[in-house]
Amino acid sequence: MPVKPKLLIVEDDEGLQRQLRWAYDDYEVLVAADRAGALDIVRAAEPAVVTLDLGLPPDPDGVSEGFAALETILSLKPETKVIVASGHGARESALRAIASGAYDFYQKPVDIDQLGLIVRRAFQLHGIESENRRLESRVGEDRTVLGTMVTAAPEMLKVARTIERVANTDVSVMLLGASGTGKELLARGLHEASRRRGGGFVAINCAAIPENLLEAELFGYEKGAFTGAIKTTEGKIELAHGGTLFLDEVGDIPLPLQVKLLRFLQERVIERIGGRKPIAVDTRIVCATHQDLDAMIAAGTFRDDLYYRLAEIVVRIPSLAERHGDAALLAKHFLGRFAREMNPAVKGFAPGALAAIEAWGWPGNIRELENRLKRAVIMADGKLVTAEDLDLPAEAMDALPVNLKTAREEADRRAIRKALAQTEGNISGAAKLLGISRPTLYDLLKQYGLQP
Ligand SMILES: Nc1ncnc2c1ncn2[C@@H]1O[C@H](COP(=O)(O)OP(=O)(O)OP(=O)(O)O)[C@@H](O)[C@H]1O
Ligand SMILES: [Mg+2]
Repeated sequence: MPVKPKLLIVEDDEGLQRQLRWAYDDYEVLVAADRAGALDIVRAAEPAVVTLDLGLPPDPDGVSEGFAALETILSLKPETKVIVASGHGARESALRAIASGAYDFYQKPVDIDQLGLIVRRAFQLHGIESENRRLESRVGEDRTVLGTMVTAAPEMLKVARTIERVANTDVSVMLLGASGTGKELLARGLHEASRRRGGGFVAINCAAIPENLLEAELFGYEKGAFTGAIKTTEGKIELAHGGTLFLDEVGDIPLPLQVKLLRFLQERVIERIGGRKPIAVDTRIVCATHQDLDAMIAAGTFRDDLYYRLAEIVVRIPSLAERHGDAALLAKHFLGRFAREMNPAVKGFAPGALAAIEAWGWPGNIRELENRLKRAVIMADGKLVTAEDLDLPAEAMDALPVNLKTAREEADRRAIRKALAQTEGNISGAAKLLGISRPTLYDLLKQYGLQP
């Protein structure tokens, strides 16, 4: 049975109470006879609609108790629809009640049908308003997935759902994405969403460590294994026991080490350099690269057997330009954060700044956006960050376009510039992104005076 909406009747006349209680079987009817009783019910049951008799004890012939109740109900729950009953000829107090925030009033003696209509409309309005509040609060809040990722783009929400789904399995996950797309953040999110979150998240950037040190870094070494090995040291793999090992830039692992890593993935034991006993390690592997591993496999610089061990699940992370609406959302997020941390005088964006952000191609993705926002917040002269602070070309978007034709041309221009930025000026690529033919794109470029 669906939950009935709650209606509170505040009425001191017992006969009337009974009559009203039976009149509304669409609602769960709650009854109070005085102000204190009414407030208890409002606190506990949060009725959407209240009918309130203004003449309540200890002042049944006046209106003081009724008004006090009205005021407190609305301060407790401003969204409550309060319908006030006024005695015969007390139109003045009814109007005063409306001015104080009551939703409507009715005249005594009660006409059940008429009151029923008012009550029903009050419930409808309350429903619409609470739905609106729910939607608004979703728009206003910082939308995060996996704990820390700000996004509202369907393209990225899909990625987050995949990560959440595989988090609790131990399958190896390969994150493919351009630089600055949030590979490391996703890897951490995956770890935090998994049952390994109590263990360590150990990250190693295979591109940042010189080749000859990478093996020791990954596998560890025994004291005296080589010159300078003054004490036995655990490698990153061993440190990730019970947790997650994040191999960043995995495409940069040299071939001999790929063989050794493969052996670990097959047997789940390692040997430290100079060590003789195998050490069992239970860790979950997540790796990332911005390199084209298919091409590397074809060229013989990355082992395909290692690839299949590392990439049981492959997750492709969309670039920022592919995440619809996220550039502006992330810009607001970073502005808020950096303003708080570094320049509280900054309150928002100047007209045109968000348009400039949305029009930019963001080759460096979220990292670029983060850096530009940080710099802009530090540099901003006044309260508002401008396109200039962001070092972005200003978009003439603040004024309303004169007519639909110019609006369309403006949108065309922006889409073309964006596609060209994304394909680094490649015409066929840009035409494909835009869903038009090459000749059409050439025509448009000429028409709008744009350079490829
Ligand atoms: N969706 C997001 N919401 C908030 N911050 C993000 C998001 N994605 C990335 N970031 C931030 O952007 C920066 C770059 O992210 P991260 O280091 O995870 O990317 P990456 O793909 O590993 O980059 P690189 O290829 O440069 O190593 C970080 O500071 C990260 O916190
Ligand atoms: Mg990274």
